Amino acid sequence: MTGAPQDFTSDFSIEQNWPDYTGEEHAIWRLLFERQQRLLVDRACQEFLDGLDALGVAADGIPDFHRLSDLLDAATGWRIVAVPGLVPDDVFFAYLARRRFPSTCFIRRRDQLDYLQEPDVFHDICGHVPLLMNPVFADYMQAYGEGGLKALGLGHLQHLARLYWYTVEFGLIATQQGLRIYGSGILSSAGESVYCLEDPRPNRIRFDLRRVMRTRYRIDDFQQTYFVIDDFQQLFDATRPDFEPMYREIAAQPDIEPDVLIQSDRKFEPSCFPGPADCGQKNGLQLDRSPSLGRKRLEDVRQHHNQ
Ligand SMILES: [Fe+2]
Repeated sequence: MTGAPQDFTSDFSIEQNWPDYTGEEHAIWRLLFERQQRLLVDRACQEFLDGLDALGVAADGIPDFHRLSDLLDAATGWRIVAVPGLVPDDVFFAYLARRRFPSTCFIRRRDQLDYLQEPDVFHDICGHVPLLMNPVFADYMQAYGEGGLKALGLGHLQHLARLYWYTVEFGLIATQQGLRIYGSGILSSAGESVYCLEDPRPNRIRFDLRRVMRTRYRIDDFQQTYFVIDDFQQLFDATRPDFEPMYREIAAQPDIEPDVLIQSDRKFEPSCFPGPADCGQKNGLQLDRSPSLGRKRLEDVRQHHNQ
C-alpha cells in the first residue's frame, strides 16, 4: 500500500487493492483493534458491538472492503467506496445519500497510534462502518447525506456539520446498562473512549437538535460537551423535519461555546462517575489528551466557515 498514488475518478473512488497491504500494516491494525476491543467491551453501545461481530471485523488484519460491502449490502443496502482521503463536501454527501460510505484505505504508522490528523482505515472501518449494520442508524446516515446536499445549497453547512460532529463522530447514548459510546471519533480513540464516559469534567447533556446546531466544537482536544440520545430512532425522528426554517431561526441566535451550559440544557446524570483519580486507570490506560483520531472531513467545513 505504500506504492505510487493511484489515479482516481471524478467521484474520487479508487481501488482498495487489499492484497497489497504489508504485514506491518496488518500488524498495526491488530495493535489498534486489540487495544480498542479491551476498552470498548463495556463502553461501546451494543449496536456497534453487534455490527462489528456481524461484519467479522476483527484483529486479524485490515478488512477487504468488497467482503464487508457484501455483508453490509445484504443487511442495510450500504456499500463501502475506497477513497484516497478527504473528499469534497458535495462528493461526500452524495455518497451518503446513495448509501455509500467513503472510506480511506491507508493505515497510520506505528508512531501515530495515538494521533493522526486525517481519518485512516481504522477510524473509518472500525469506527464508522459497524453502525451502518443497524437499520435505523443506516437510514439516519442516508438522511444526513441528503440534508448535506440541501444545506450546501442553502449556505448552512456550518450548522449541519455540528450535527454530524456531535452525533456521528462524538455521540453518546443512554442505555439500560448506562451511558455508552456510538460516535466514531470516540470509538477509534483510546483516550477519549475513557474520558467521555468517566471523566467528571465534560458536560453530558440530553440531545436537542437546535442546541447541537448552535454549539461550536473543538478539534484540538477532547470534547467539552457530549450530547446524549435515548436511541437511534430519537435521532432519526428529530432530524426528519425540513431544516430550512430551523436554519433561519438558528442563524439569528448566537453560537454556544463548546464548554458552556445554557438554561434549557437537561444534564445527563448517571448514578455515579469514577472520581478523577480513577479516570484513565482502567485497563492500565493512561489518559492521553491528544485529540481523537480521524477528524473527519468536517474539519474542512469548520475552516471554510470559520466555525
Ligand atoms: Fe469520522
